[in-house]
Amino acid sequence: MGQVEARSAPGAQHAADERPSEPALIEAAHVTAGYDNRREHTRLIALRDVSLQVRRGEFLAIVGPSGCGKTTFINLIAGFVKPLEGSVRVRGEEVTGPGADRAMVFQDYALLPWRTVERNIRFAMENRRGHVPKAEQAERAARALRLVGLTGFEKSYPHELSGGMRQRVGIARALVTEPEILLMDEPFGAVDAMTREAMQAELEKIIAETRQTVVFITHSIDEAILLADRIVVISKRPGTIREVIDVDLPRPRFDEQSDVQRSPRFGEIRSHLWSLLADEALGAKQEGATR
Ligand SMILES: Nc1ncnc2c1ncn2[C@@H]1O[C@H](COP(=O)(O)OP(=O)(O)OP(=O)(O)O)[C@@H](O)[C@H]1O
Ligand SMILES: [Mg+2]
Repeated sequence: MGQVEARSAPGAQHAADERPSEPALIEAAHVTAGYDNRREHTRLIALRDVSLQVRRGEFLAIVGPSGCGKTTFINLIAGFVKPLEGSVRVRGEEVTGPGADRAMVFQDYALLPWRTVERNIRFAMENRRGHVPKAEQAERAARALRLVGLTGFEKSYPHELSGGMRQRVGIARALVTEPEILLMDEPFGAVDAMTREAMQAELEKIIAETRQTVVFITHSIDEAILLADRIVVISKRPGTIREVIDVDLPRPRFDEQSDVQRSPRFGEIRSHLWSLLADEALGAKQEGATR
């Protein structure tokens, strides 16, 4: 620890200290979230007192042990989960439900099994207030499929695809609506290593072009460093912000000539993240043992 010092700051302070001239695109203020178990009359607290701001155009990665509340956090931004305390705002307005400005790539794909690949992707455009004409829908779907390398599988059904391919359909479905905010929950988790790297590079290109704001959950430390502007480390449940790390590495990071992955700074951030996450994993085990 210590090597990444001044560049990282505890999250709660980060949010409070940082007063950018442009207001944050996404702002979570003292958010506590959890789930009620009505049968047993208990409440599980998933996240506690989380404050965080995401700037327009920023790529924010979230890492932390399994069950620490990462999915819960992006579900709050998506409007699928409501906070028990605190607030989540997008463009200064409190999130009260899902909206066309935010699209989610789900951890478990969430495809419609009775629809073909192409119809799954079009589904995202059909359910919008701003109607997209049929011809443009087809064009956009084709472009999104090309982007994720699934051209030729338009007429396949989800059960005919591998896990990695299904996940890529989920990504295409989120990209096709061109949302201002992309919420990605381990989007490359089921993709093989080679495809994963190609898709990371593709995502970097897309974001550079569209200037979309991305909140990206991953279990891969390297992936977080390669893609993100900032990385939020969440502690084991109830999740709190352990640290926010600025990834001050030049872009593009997937360029042929880029040697970002071999740079000393990459190694520094990597070992710092490892030690933070190892702490959390150890803590989780010890707590589990006393139960
Ligand atoms: N719909 C739900 N109902 C009840 N409890 C839930 C629900 N969703 C999540 N939880 C609980 O909230 C906690 C946080 O879950 P969450 O899915 O946010 O974790 P995560 O960090 O995304 O984990 P993973 O890395 O395994 O995906 C867990 O203890 C989980 O059991
Ligand atoms: Mg999750």
